[in-house]
Amino acid sequence: MRLLRHFRLVTLLAGIVFVFPSCRLAQAQSGSLAATPPMGWNSWNHFARAVNDADVRAAADAMVASGMRDAGYVYVNIDDTWEGERDAQGNIQSNGKFPDMKALADYVHSKGLKLGIYSSPGPKTCGGYEGSYGHEQQDADTYAKWGIDYLKYDLCSYGGIMRKEAPDDQQKQWEMMQQAYEKMHQALLNTHRPIVFSLCQYGLDAVWNWGPKVGGNLWRTTGDINDYYDRMSVIGFAQAGLSKYAAPGHWNDPDMLEVGNGHMTPDEYRTHMSLWAMLAAPLLAGNDLSQMDDTTESILLNKEVIAVDQDRRGIQGDRVSATGPFEIWMKPLVGGAKAVALFNRSESAYPITVQFKAVGFDGAVHARDLWSGKDLGTLHGSYTAVVPKHGVVMLKLSR
Ligand code: GLA
Repeated sequence: MRLLRHFRLVTLLAGIVFVFPSCRLAQAQSGSLAATPPMGWNSWNHFARAVNDADVRAAADAMVASGMRDAGYVYVNIDDTWEGERDAQGNIQSNGKFPDMKALADYVHSKGLKLGIYSSPGPKTCGGYEGSYGHEQQDADTYAKWGIDYLKYDLCSYGGIMRKEAPDDQQKQWEMMQQAYEKMHQALLNTHRPIVFSLCQYGLDAVWNWGPKVGGNLWRTTGDINDYYDRMSVIGFAQAGLSKYAAPGHWNDPDMLEVGNGHMTPDEYRTHMSLWAMLAAPLLAGNDLSQMDDTTESILLNKEVIAVDQDRRGIQGDRVSATGPFEIWMKPLVGGAKAVALFNRSESAYPITVQFKAVGFDGAVHARDLWSGKDLGTLHGSYTAVVPKHGVVMLKLSR
C-alpha cells in the first residue's frame, strides 16, 4: 500500500514536470542567469557597422589583459551587422566579416568569457540585415550550436509588421510585440542552453511591466544613448521611479556605456558610471577596449563602484530628492549599507548636502568616498561635498 502511494506520488510529480517542461526550465534559467546585472562589452557604441571578427577577438584579449574580466565583465557581445544570407535550408549564416562564428565562440570561451549576438523579431534588423522573422527556432538552434551565451533581440522592422497586421489597433500591436518576444524566449528555452535574453524595443508599452513574463533578463527602457552628456544624462536620470521593476534575473537597461568614447569629460563619464551602478544597470562597455587610456580604465575598473552595481541584493537605486539640478540617489546594499550619490547636473561646481535621515540613517554613520577611495570616518547628521559641474560624489554609508 505504501509502495503504491509512493508510486502515485512519483507519477504525479513526473506528470507535472512533463506537462510544464518550459516552466521548469524557465525557473532553472532565471535562477542562474543574470542573478546580478550582466557585465561585458558590446560592439555597437564604438564600432557600429564596421565591427568584424578581429575587433571582437581584440576586445576579448583586452578584457583579460586590462583586468576587466576579473572585475566581472564577461559578455563579449556582437551587435548588428554580423548577419549573412540564409542557406538553402533557411539556416542563418554569418557574413564575410565573421568567417567562422563557432571558432570565434571557442576563442572567446577559451579566455573565460562568453559570446553574445544580436537579432530582430522582424525580417530585417535595424541595420537592414537578416532578422529572425519566421526562423525563430532555427536561429536559436544555430546560436546554441555556435555556443552563443547572450541574445539582444531588437524590435526594428517588426514594428512595420505590427502596423501592417493591426493598423489603427495599438492594443493588438502591443500584443503582437509581446508574442514576438515570447516566441524567441520559448525558442531559446528549447535549445536547453542558458542564453541571456536582452529585450530591445526602446521601452515601448512600459516593457518593465511585462519584460519578465516574456523571459527578458534585461529590457531597454529608452531609445538609443550616444556619447554626449545631454543624451546620457537625460536617459540616466529619467530612470527615476523604475526601481521596483528590477530584481535578480530581470533588469532595467538604460542602454550601453559610452565611457571612453571621447565626447564627455572625466566628470561626465564618472556620472555615467555612477548612475548606471546606482541603477543596477547592465554594465556593457561600449568603447574600443584595445585603446583605453588610464582615466577610462580607472572609471570602468573602479571595483567599489562595480560592487554597488553588482550588489547581490539586486535592489535598484532610486532618486531621493531633486532640488533643481542637484539630485541625491540611494541604493540599498547587503548588510544594511547604502550607496548614496550626489549628482550636480548644473553648469558649475556647487556644494550638495545629504541629510543622513533622508537616506534612512539616524545616528552616526561610517562613510567612504568611492571615487577618491578615501574613508571619511564617522559622520553625524549630514555630509556636504562640492560636486563639480556635471559631476558626482558617490558614497558608501554604513552604521
Ligand atoms: C538599434 C538599437 C541599438 C543598436 C542598433 C543596431 O538602434 O537600439 O542599440 O543595436 O539598433 O542597428
